[in-house]
Amino acid sequence: MNLDRRHFLSVLGGATLAWPRAVEAFGTQLASGGAPDDEAFWYQVRSTFLIPDDRIYLNNGTLGPSPRVVVDAVTEHVRRVAATFPPGIAWDDLKASVARLVGGDAEGFVFPRNTTEAMSFVANGLELFEGEEVVTTDHEHIGGLEPWRVLEARRGVRLSVAALPVPAASEEELADAVWDAVSPDTRVVSVSHMTFTTGTLMPVVELARRCRDQGIVFCVDGAHPPGMLSVDVGGLGGDFYASSPHKWVMAPQGCGLLYLAPEWRSKLWPTLASGGWDDHALSAHRFNHMGTIDESRMAGLFAASEYLLALGPDRVEARVRYLRGRLEDGLAAIEGVHVVTPAAEALKGGMVSFSVDGVESPDLQRHLSRAASVRTRVIGEYDYGWMRLSTHVYNRPDEIDRVLELVDEVARTGIAG
Ligand SMILES: Cc1ncc(COP(=O)(O)O)c(C=O)c1O
Repeated sequence: MNLDRRHFLSVLGGATLAWPRAVEAFGTQLASGGAPDDEAFWYQVRSTFLIPDDRIYLNNGTLGPSPRVVVDAVTEHVRRVAATFPPGIAWDDLKASVARLVGGDAEGFVFPRNTTEAMSFVANGLELFEGEEVVTTDHEHIGGLEPWRVLEARRGVRLSVAALPVPAASEEELADAVWDAVSPDTRVVSVSHMTFTTGTLMPVVELARRCRDQGIVFCVDGAHPPGMLSVDVGGLGGDFYASSPHKWVMAPQGCGLLYLAPEWRSKLWPTLASGGWDDHALSAHRFNHMGTIDESRMAGLFAASEYLLALGPDRVEARVRYLRGRLEDGLAAIEGVHVVTPAAEALKGGMVSFSVDGVESPDLQRHLSRAASVRTRVIGEYDYGWMRLSTHVYNRPDEIDRVLELVDEVARTGIAG
């Protein structure tokens, strides 16, 4: 870290803070090594988390556990506020950090509380009328779907739902499946960047291109990829990108993100209005005027972004994929297990979903929890009934192996009692 950077990090909002120095020390400690199977390196990374040794957390797809430095950044901020020395939010520094992590230009970021709120800002901020159509898929999370359903109920906007292949074989197949649902009335295409159901990476660059060609607004529910994979929210060419850094960026609960392409920074209507909402010189920042907010979560988001930058997004992605690969290969080798996540590496990241013949996923979930304190997610939505497991940088190969052992046992003998 160069001196200028160290300076700006240590004088945020005019206050000298401890967490930037902790992140810097972490970066120095982990400057070398970090190959996907460098267990000594990843052991040090695990030790920066508060996760108990005997808990196997495979549900990052729902919520990411924050590393200690993030928790410290939040509590440090809360203490400063209580001591009447509030550090404030260093907006420019926060945006610059997030832009380094997820791409895009710093001016385009808004920080709502989560993907649900970000998607609602988009749906409510567009001019959509009766009979106009929004295309989504049968793998959208309620957070990315319900904001459009409000428009359906309130304004007579039509939803056209694309049926995605499971497991998907190629980007083209996925893009064509979405495109089958597009009609001359389509004004918006809104899909997940990575589906929460099967962990499938959607062909967002190709979909953005097709939408641009037809003058259709393209909105991406990117709850998952930021912090898991190297992404470029600006470069993919869509109009809006919504995310939840409290998942894979491991920021505190209540940290959302919305990136607006330049033309929308002055055009989108605000859902939540305060002073400056109509001051277009503020660009996307006019959407950050939300009244009094919990600033401590923004401090936590800043620290989480800096933590991942210190770790290195490429190292993170490689480790995430390595662990998911170990898990997925092991699952696929068990008789009676059916993986629904695509086989092609380019179509997935850090999540794998599957079913086990003759076993209900909620029963398997309960069994894994009781047997080895494993945290999982069952995809009950749409009656899919799959078990979903997520891997992130704090997971260890021995945890993966223990889960495989348990699933293998269940697949062979069922669940007793
Ligand atoms: C694809 C997707 N979109 C949206 C959401 C909603 O996220 P949040 O609860 O942070 O708004 C989730 C949560 O799991 C998700 O997986």
